[in-house]
Amino acid sequence: MDHQAFSHLKFESWLVAAGRSAEAGAPLNVPLIPASNFILGQQRGYARGDGTPTWEALEELLGGLEAGKAVTFASGMAAIAAVFDQLPAGAQVVLPADCYQGVAGLAAAGATRGRWTVRRLPVEDTPAWVRACAEADLIWLESPSNPLLAVADLPTICAAPRKPGAILAVDNTFATPLNQRPLDFGATVSLQSATKFIGGHSDLLMGVAVTRDEALSRALLQSRTLAGATPGALEAFLALRGARTLALRLQRAQHNAMTLAERLEKHPLVARVRYPGLPSHPTHLVARRVLNGFGTIISFDLHGDATLADAVCRTVKLIRHATSLGAVESTMERRAAIPGQEHLPPTLLRLSVGIEDVDDLWDDLDTAIRAAQAAYVRAV
Ligand SMILES: Cc1ncc(COP(=O)(O)O)c(C=O)c1O
Repeated sequence: MDHQAFSHLKFESWLVAAGRSAEAGAPLNVPLIPASNFILGQQRGYARGDGTPTWEALEELLGGLEAGKAVTFASGMAAIAAVFDQLPAGAQVVLPADCYQGVAGLAAAGATRGRWTVRRLPVEDTPAWVRACAEADLIWLESPSNPLLAVADLPTICAAPRKPGAILAVDNTFATPLNQRPLDFGATVSLQSATKFIGGHSDLLMGVAVTRDEALSRALLQSRTLAGATPGALEAFLALRGARTLALRLQRAQHNAMTLAERLEKHPLVARVRYPGLPSHPTHLVARRVLNGFGTIISFDLHGDATLADAVCRTVKLIRHATSLGAVESTMERRAAIPGQEHLPPTLLRLSVGIEDVDDLWDDLDTAIRAAQAAYVRAV
């Protein structure tokens, strides 16, 4: 495509315009090309190492969003594993105390095998992160964090002096590049599970790592090729289609999320609401400074116990009782029910707000909470 012509575009326009051919007669949308290999003689021979036109269109779009080079992967975890793959033996890794259990599991498995050591720091403890930057080989941040939605002071942490060669990685899945720009703050690499907001329809698994460091981008590509952690052609096609509407979906869903968070906070049966957009959130002031939008995920605790919270999940109808997040449909689950997440508050429900009508969502949620509570009171 003609990069010059599009270099001035805002995100909303880039999402629609990027990753298309400029050639007369070419299809308007890059086709789904399910090819493992290509006729030899041109630059492309075998898809695992050389890529496919479908992946490249998506990588152009995702790289352009963060003004870096994007490498897409088979899943968010594959992208994360490729970053860990860059570490020297005996490396020091720093992880947030609250983060996606998959990355915590990956880090713990590597530590058990003696590949690296791991330290966990509270997301909110900016001075501790600044100190860690001087010592660690991999500073791993996830912000807002999953599922407590703590927002890290990325501008301060990313500007802190780092050990030479250290990687500062930010899992930007919850924010998306529209709400947060880790590379602009000085992070080495920004990652997303494209399974979530980029795809946006709960119909694919994919990950992406974006960096402005040429050597790291080549190394990530090499890790992807050697591990065979390549995306599928259909997934890339769907992710590109999903990305076209990212700005609209995010805008609508985050408006819904703010409304629901405010209503939940006033609900007599709700004990606590965690949403970075609420002044009551512990990192609200950081969120105001760092994020362009507060996102679409709300975590809230109920008065009661796990049985009650499970009953609410089973009672909602419009909101689906399902894991994952960032899709057009609202989903909700009790996070402490997930193996490895037992440390979380037992009634904490993580709600990923979709693009439905906000009053329909509220009716569904409020009805389910009241019905489950009434049944609970009768039973005890
Ligand atoms: C914050 C975060 N990062 C990474 C991942 C992993 O992504 P994937 O499931 O695409 O491997 C998830 C999945 O839920 C996540 O929530």
